[in-house]
Amino acid sequence: MPHVIFHKNGQTYSADVPLRTNLVVKAGIKQFPFPHLSYGCGMGKCAKCACKVLQGGEQLPPANWKEKKQLGAHLAGGYRLACQLWLEHDIELLQDAEPLASAVTPGAGA
Ligand code: FES
Repeated sequence: MPHVIFHKNGQTYSADVPLRTNLVVKAGIKQFPFPHLSYGCGMGKCAKCACKVLQGGEQLPPANWKEKKQLGAHLAGGYRLACQLWLEHDIELLQDAEPLASAVTPGAGA
């Protein structure tokens, strides 16, 4: 059972979640122990769920094409899209108070 530590607005929240939990899906159905997670589309299109992975990133699968498109250079800074992650291992995440700007230019045919 993955243990999630989540930092937001100077607060730290932690909880165990079921294997293969998607934090954004859980938030969407209000079964989420971290009510401060920001998210939007749930489909890798807005980057509002972007979080910096502080621990456990090496256990995650490589970023998918949606993450590469939305995060761009932020990927190298350790950011991932929470809506694209199905957690199988312990992880520590930090979400900035302000949503991370998408690397995609609005209206650019995204
Ligand atoms: S919620 Fe929109 S990209 Fe994750």
